[in-house]
Amino acid sequence: MLKSDNIPTVSKRIEAVQSVKGTRDLMPPETSVWQRVEEEARRVLRAYAFREIRTPILESTALFARSVGEDTDIVSKEMYTFQDRDNESLTLRPEATASAVRAYIEHRLFNEGGLQKLYYMGPMFRRERPQKGRYRQFYQIGAEALGSDHPAIDVESMEMLVLLLEQLSVQEFTLLLNSVGCPRCRPEYLKVLRHALEDVRANLCRDCQRRAVTNPLRVLDCKVEADQPIIEQLPRMADYLCPECRQHFEAVKDGLESRRIDYRQAPRLVRGLDYYTRTTFEITCSALGAQNAVLGGGRYDGLSEMLGGPPAPGFGFAIGEDRLALVVMDSIAKQLELGPLAYVAWIGEAALGSAENLARALRRQGISVEISHQPMKLKKSLGTASKLAARFAIIIGEGELESGRYQVKDMTTGQQTEIETNQIERYLQQNSARAI
Ligand code: HAM
Repeated sequence: MLKSDNIPTVSKRIEAVQSVKGTRDLMPPETSVWQRVEEEARRVLRAYAFREIRTPILESTALFARSVGEDTDIVSKEMYTFQDRDNESLTLRPEATASAVRAYIEHRLFNEGGLQKLYYMGPMFRRERPQKGRYRQFYQIGAEALGSDHPAIDVESMEMLVLLLEQLSVQEFTLLLNSVGCPRCRPEYLKVLRHALEDVRANLCRDCQRRAVTNPLRVLDCKVEADQPIIEQLPRMADYLCPECRQHFEAVKDGLESRRIDYRQAPRLVRGLDYYTRTTFEITCSALGAQNAVLGGGRYDGLSEMLGGPPAPGFGFAIGEDRLALVVMDSIAKQLELGPLAYVAWIGEAALGSAENLARALRRQGISVEISHQPMKLKKSLGTASKLAARFAIIIGEGELESGRYQVKDMTTGQQTEIETNQIERYLQQNSARAI
């Protein structure tokens, strides 16, 4: 029997390969919202003198174990870690502050003196339980200011974030603020906290029973409903701050108040990463539901030393871009006209050359243009323009070729105007309020 006789003749339906759980494709028109968010973020970050840094997605596992902390949820159960072929342990970055500080040390940016203000955008990976606003591959827009412990840095960064949210028409958000002290005052607080936890430990969730021993601060950001009344009664870091941390915290609050930035003190806001010192903060949006933190950050004055670098106090934050995109989706989707600005409708082969020349000239000016490559009747052409949500249709037929004046139809009002060929670009620019 020939081998080919074994090949089944009736083709079997092959099961389609799906995207991995907790990951997703970002598709148009949603990607337009993401572009808008990123453009605005870059604009605002540049205005505050941050410069972009791009670090690898793959890092040594030790980087996160040493900075984020072995006992955090992120490191202990959420990282995508694997042994490379040469047995090195690698991890898909779960966050990028550690990477930015590693790069700061590796490239000796501290030698340049003064503040180093860096920002980044890109995917992060955490193996969490997926739900709305929580993914296993998600995106952050983050920024780190390294080289100063001045409270004005904290205030200025929060001012910048409020500006960004306003520019994106995000109206309802809450800035939550806390101080988690420093290695001088925190041990005393941890002693008191441990002591208080001994009495209530048995009534807490199983994770917190473990955390009460291994990393008691983590109990404070437990999300289990039944634990909340107990946690509410635990001692607060704010009551144990050393004079320097207290002064720093007061200066941050004063700075926010003098800039009329509303905030709410959140004594339990310790955040899920171990590197924080002094200021911690988050911005929440109620529209997001359960995963309501649209961004978070704080100060990490000892992180550089933890990673083998010189003292370099730092402050930073990361915006959850997936969540920010969700929040701005409604307001921006209405502003964004998602089709091309112009559709060039040519009628008859004789018009094709002029139509293509016009499309090319407009595109060179950055104007978004679509053109058919097949001949079409006028009605079908206008139908296509409207299907594409083009703002204008430029009609070029025999008559237009002769007169050198093209018909420009405003697809929203139906109004048609005759425009000189060399005036078309100006007309489109002037008659469209939108970004090109
Ligand atoms: P984080 O709070 O872990 O902080 O993450 C920052 C933001 O990323 C969160 O507020 C949230 O919006 C978003 N995010 C986190 N996990 C997910 C997820 N699974 N799915 C969707 N969005 C998520 C950090 O990562 C710190 N590196 C921030 C920082 C920078 N601190 C100082 N500098």
